[in-house]
Amino acid sequence: MNRVANKICLITGAAGGIGRASALALAAEGATVYVSDSDALRARSVASEAGGHALELDVANEAHWRAAIDALLTREGRLDVLVNNAGRFLLEPLATTTLTDFRALSAVNVDGVFLGCRYGVEAMRRSAREGEPARGSIVNIASYLGNIGMARASAYCATKGAVRVLTKSVAVECGSRGEFIRVNSVHPGITRTAMTERLFPAEAWEAPQETFARVPMGTWCTPEDVAAAVVFLASEESAFITGTELPVDAGMTAA
Ligand SMILES: NC(=O)c1ccc[n+]([C@@H]2O[C@H](COP(=O)([O-])OP(=O)(O)OC[C@H]3O[C@@H](n4cnc5c(N)ncnc54)[C@H](O)[C@@H]3O)[C@@H](O)[C@H]2O)c1
Repeated sequence: MNRVANKICLITGAAGGIGRASALALAAEGATVYVSDSDALRARSVASEAGGHALELDVANEAHWRAAIDALLTREGRLDVLVNNAGRFLLEPLATTTLTDFRALSAVNVDGVFLGCRYGVEAMRRSAREGEPARGSIVNIASYLGNIGMARASAYCATKGAVRVLTKSVAVECGSRGEFIRVNSVHPGITRTAMTERLFPAEAWEAPQETFARVPMGTWCTPEDVAAAVVFLASEESAFITGTELPVDAGMTAA
């Protein structure tokens, strides 16, 4: 019940899906959660469900990051955990994916995580006690599609591959400065959320063993399955884990 007790956590894209489940799971384990999203109305509703605070934060907008971090630090004095979860999907053949499409997707999935790491690390450094190394945990939500390719998803796969290596680089940089800021990525498989709901007909979700025959465990993940990995990486249970990637994909990338 208290695996992240008293930790101050900021979750992006938390108005629904994996972000919402992560906010609720962190709150259930004792954290103070800041539920942020570009959709401020839905963020407020999840914040009240989680007993936390809402922030309007479009992750592609640098001014929003500055304002959100300043508001959080003014109120709490520190940031312990950042979950860079906000993301978008694009299912489009390469031949019809325009550079404008690619840049728009990258603005959220790559720029958003880059800005999150930059301002998150800075906030954790500002939170450090005098004479002590900075501490904290950053969890970046990548995808199994950051590790393998998929037809009609080259732009999306490229953005998630970028998140995977960005994560490792920031982890190495913080560690090599003697800081205890841990940075890891979670790689969900097919997870039933608003993002994927419309990709399969309703009956496909109800008969996972046929639809997801390629998945070793024969089914899709729930947002709560992914949130459990987020809580682990946010907690002190993973105190010496940094720069790693954790698939939550029912064995999909192992097959
Ligand atoms: N659902 C899956 O199968 C799956 C698989 C692998 C990875 N992921 C990743 O998990 C993360 C969460 O996805 P989900 O499935 O919960 O999707 P979702 O669509 O249910 O939730 C995404 C949330 O991000 C918010 N968002 C979108 N653009 C934003 C922006 N610019 N700034 C702030 N918020 C923004 C949306 O408003 C929404 O609340 C994404 O990064 C996604 O790529 C999802």
